[in-house]
Amino acid sequence: MNRPLFIHSNSSFLERILSESQAQALATTSMLQALQWVSNPEVQLSAIFLNPSDMSFSALRFLELLSSQRPAIPVFLIEASLASQVENQKKVLELTHTQGVFKGDEPFAALMESLKTNIDSPDTVRTKIPDHVQKTGYSAVPIGDFFTGSLYLYNIFIQNKQGYMNLFGQNGSPIDATLIAKAMQDQTYLYIKEEELSSVREGLRNARTLILESSEFPISWKTAETMVSAKNILNEMKQAGVNDQMIDYAQTMLGDLFKLVSKIEHDAGSLHKIIDQAKQCDRSVFCASYSMLICKHLKFEKTATLEILGLASILQDISLFKTQFGDLTGMQSHQLTSEQLILYQQHPALSADLIASHTDIPQVTLQVVRQHHERKDKTGFPSRVGGNQLHPMAEILSLINSYYDITLNFSDDAAIIQELQRSVFPHYSPEVIAAFKSVLGNILKDKIHSSKVL
Ligand SMILES: [Fe+2]
Repeated sequence: MNRPLFIHSNSSFLERILSESQAQALATTSMLQALQWVSNPEVQLSAIFLNPSDMSFSALRFLELLSSQRPAIPVFLIEASLASQVENQKKVLELTHTQGVFKGDEPFAALMESLKTNIDSPDTVRTKIPDHVQKTGYSAVPIGDFFTGSLYLYNIFIQNKQGYMNLFGQNGSPIDATLIAKAMQDQTYLYIKEEELSSVREGLRNARTLILESSEFPISWKTAETMVSAKNILNEMKQAGVNDQMIDYAQTMLGDLFKLVSKIEHDAGSLHKIIDQAKQCDRSVFCASYSMLICKHLKFEKTATLEILGLASILQDISLFKTQFGDLTGMQSHQLTSEQLILYQQHPALSADLIASHTDIPQVTLQVVRQHHERKDKTGFPSRVGGNQLHPMAEILSLINSYYDITLNFSDDAAIIQELQRSVFPHYSPEVIAAFKSVLGNILKDKIHSSKVL
């Protein structure tokens, strides 16, 4: 039986779908779980319904993987603010091969209406595609995958008895299920040219640029794409270390984060959500997001913000990824043993040394990494530098790190502010505290506003 797969961050939406579909649908909040179903050749799918603002994975990356695993399965987006058809949205829907957009409040039956379900398709079992059916330059797709779509998304080929490929269905033409059922009598696979699949992947990359740059797309979708790529960079650095290629990759991600942060004033509630999601992501992504807001407030120049403070935020704790005690990045200083604490207190210098030996990062960025826990009044670590020796961007990063620590131990905003005033603000300069307070004030206002809207 072909089953629709729903990926959505809202679990009550998924519960409704499961109940209305009488548990026929596959439903998950995790794109990784969805990916497991998609890559399991025995799972028969009729369609994919995807919420692109889901934070657990990049929707575009998922679609890229889908194009190699299940290119014939129709994809629909569930994204309320994409219901209107405007130029860049249309372009993205085309580039991603999306078959339609739903708001998410439609009954299950309405979601299924665009799928062909009334066809007498032979009940086949999906299995792993055997090597001998693969043809050079083509990708084999089980015929059963074509039954629920309404249009061919690619030029589809069929292999004749002599082994030659003939055009079976043209890209964009309607799927004739009777013809497929007939072909199924002596064929098990249809074929798509690899080059056409690659151009779809290329299109997905172009769609990503459009989504991040055009104001027509919801901030939540942009945030999901940016944060997920930040998470990927961190995971890769944790596994493979850092090199110049990784720095380029991180700079692209920081550029996206900068764009996101620069354009959020007009969208109530999104500032607070970005910071909240950055915090769930990781300390360094939180520091990068927050520091960009402060730089924006202080009107710092973009390149300096990205290359110095942005990169330093991402790389600051790199020496804690693989220590003799394991990964110490998620630990707070009071949780560490005395030996671990000795290492922890040296980590800003160790991180800077590690980066310097593997990359061409500018000295000034290394200085900010080295000083990311120092304080203006010389009470920080590891070298107790302060005053004019402390780089202004390092002071900002240090303050944000202290703030992050407090948010781990206090959940109430009033208590967080009280603790900041008691144990953090006295150690920093009035200019940096003023900028920090102004950004924090805006985030809290935005949080209150979004809770009122809800
Ligand atoms: Fe650190």
